[in-house]
Amino acid sequence: MSAPAPLAVPPFAVISGAEVQRALQGRQKKIMNLVEATYRWHSAGDSVNPPSYFLRFPDRPSARIIALPASIGGPLRVDGLKWISSFPENVAAGIPRASAVLILNDHDTGYPFACLESSIISATRTAALAASAADWLSRGRPRPARVGFFGTGLIARYIHAFLDGTGWSFDEIGVHDLSAESATGFRGYLEQSGAAGAISVFDSAEQLIRSSDLVVFATVAGEPHVGDLSWFSHNPLVLHVSLRDLAPEVLLASTNIVDDVEHCLKAETSPHLAEQLTGSRDFLAGTLDDVMAGRVRIPADRPTVFSPFGLGVLDLAVGKYVYDEIARSRKLHIIDEFFHERRRYG
Ligand SMILES: NC(=O)c1ccc[n+]([C@@H]2O[C@H](COP(=O)([O-])OP(=O)(O)OC[C@H]3O[C@@H](n4cnc5c(N)ncnc54)[C@H](O)[C@@H]3O)[C@@H](O)[C@H]2O)c1
Repeated sequence: MSAPAPLAVPPFAVISGAEVQRALQGRQKKIMNLVEATYRWHSAGDSVNPPSYFLRFPDRPSARIIALPASIGGPLRVDGLKWISSFPENVAAGIPRASAVLILNDHDTGYPFACLESSIISATRTAALAASAADWLSRGRPRPARVGFFGTGLIARYIHAFLDGTGWSFDEIGVHDLSAESATGFRGYLEQSGAAGAISVFDSAEQLIRSSDLVVFATVAGEPHVGDLSWFSHNPLVLHVSLRDLAPEVLLASTNIVDDVEHCLKAETSPHLAEQLTGSRDFLAGTLDDVMAGRVRIPADRPTVFSPFGLGVLDLAVGKYVYDEIARSRKLHIIDEFFHERRRYG
């Protein structure tokens, strides 16, 4: 048996958003499979994914920066940190709300070996798990043919692209946003993307929900603004990606699936509010992993709500995929001498 390679300081690479996008473009199915596999390794305990840390500011109450440290095992074996800002006021100035970097750390030495632009990676892993959930939670019944996007920013666009790229097609696509400009922009994107099906912009939230069998919440609401149970009487599948839109009463009348119980019942998410209201977690049917493994079945006679908190391990998996793709094509942009003090005594 050959001796293990001696430990060495890895080179440090910087990967731009343009490179990230090129590495991920058109690979929705592959990325969805990777995200699903990573999610299963995490659920089987082969990860370290401590609670996200929320940095908030008294002088900028709507803003936050979240740190998501994580370590994933399986064949990936990589550690790292996503550091993602949300400044909702950016949107009015014409720049995206979220910006992020992802640091990848070497498994053996701990050295950071890459810094990647990560708003695209974050949107990609979010959309990949949402598309996976839409698939698993609608198995065994007719697939939803009418989708409604409630909040139509970047995340809604990525979720649509992932549904489209993983075999979904819709007869009707509904759009609702508080901002007419966002709704029009999203409609323009849908038309350009060649999305099949009739596109309708709804001014009324109620109309959007009543007209959709699959509802995607991707707003920036800080507290619940949808609480009328009758809007859900047709038992839609709801991807509650923005986590704080639904009143606890809606959750209590639904089958609730989360990505990770400990993560999701925090930070005033709607499931967290439901736990506070009822004093228990009995309203949760289980996790997406429970559904994938057949431990939980989804009844057809009530709404289903999937609330994914978002796991740092998924960012790591997608980031490592991007890194490996660029390394394979020998196009890594290495910063020479990034780690400079390498000898203890000079
Ligand atoms: N769960 C996860 O893993 C995860 C990951 C990434 C992002 N997110 C969440 O997704 C959401 C959307 O992110 P984005 O980057 O697309 O944001 P964005 O700012 O680009 O878009 C949000 C849109 O929602 C609209 N909106 C806000 N409040 C609304 C309301 N009450 N009703 C209707 N429309 C409303 C805004 O006008 C805007 O067009 C954020 O809340 C973000 O935190 C979740």
